[in-house]
Amino acid sequence: MRLLVFGKNGQVAQELALACARDGVPARFLSRDDADLTLPMACAREISETDADIVINAAAYTAVDAAEENRPRARLINAITPSEMARAAQGRDLPFLHISSDYVFDGSGKIPWREEDRPDPQGVYGRTKFAGETGIQAIGGRYAILRTSWVFSAHGTNFVRTMRRLGGSHDALNVVDDQRGGPTPAAAIAEALLRMASAFHAGSGVAGIFHFSGAPAVSWADFACAIFAGQANAPAINRIPTSAYPTPAKRPLNSVLDCRKIFKTYGIEQPDWRAGLREVLARLEAEA
Ligand SMILES: NC(=O)c1ccc[n+]([C@@H]2O[C@H](COP(=O)([O-])OP(=O)(O)OC[C@H]3O[C@@H](n4cnc5c(N)ncnc54)[C@H](OP(=O)(O)O)[C@@H]3O)[C@@H](O)[C@H]2O)c1
Repeated sequence: MRLLVFGKNGQVAQELALACARDGVPARFLSRDDADLTLPMACAREISETDADIVINAAAYTAVDAAEENRPRARLINAITPSEMARAAQGRDLPFLHISSDYVFDGSGKIPWREEDRPDPQGVYGRTKFAGETGIQAIGGRYAILRTSWVFSAHGTNFVRTMRRLGGSHDALNVVDDQRGGPTPAAAIAEALLRMASAFHAGSGVAGIFHFSGAPAVSWADFACAIFAGQANAPAINRIPTSAYPTPAKRPLNSVLDCRKIFKTYGIEQPDWRAGLREVLARLEAEA
């Protein structure tokens, strides 16, 4: 099995590279310089000409707040180009794995979101991710879309790294306590993608949308407390409501994903994010 991966320096792509190296899976990772997702046909051409067996899109416009001011660019990168990638993959009968987001939901209620629940994104980022999903689904073929949430790793921009940076210079941090979700280690997403890729390669891949996030569900404030647990000179965590932390893009209050379908279909279990957090903190400590 050989992979072609769009994205090279993102959180998930970097973990995928580590997992491929560990498992001996040959993979070509395309950076922005190799394949710019603002150029749909150039990305499609990479797929048309690849000798890989599976295509994975780990690149995206992920700046949730900036997207509010950059709708055309976000739409191009998150919706138009992934649809063209799916078309090119389908033309070659190659499986196409793509990543989407909890932000496709409006965040209402308290029940974990299932794959068949109706998306109603509240911001530009979520709308472009949803448009990417519908574009890929309309093309059909051997595709799988992994919807995930609250991704963290030892690199890139994420909540763990932000908390640690701010915690080093503040005695107390105000953290939102009324948004709940599943923090998800990027390494676990990489594992899930590899498992799905292997299934498609073996002919047992199942097309569709699949939810995949870490458990147990927590608030951002709970997650912050876990990040600083046991740390000397840890900042106090002040639990605040979303209304006290206005952002350009509205966030879902309930981001919790029901992940039973991916377990039933692929045998992929929800990762315990606390184990993933321990590994990420150990890596960050080792680098410090
Ligand atoms: N982060 C989260 O909390 C979260 C939550 C739910 C879903 N997701 C989804 O999970 C997937 C992976 O997220 P992530 O956290 O790994 O993202 P990330 O760390 O922000 O990485 C995104 C990657 O996309 C690349 N990219 C952006 N614009 C591009 C362009 N025009 N051409 C080529 N590459 C471009 C970036 O390249 P550069 O390195 O050159 O900037 C970056 O490497 C995405 O589909 C995202 O929507 C993420």
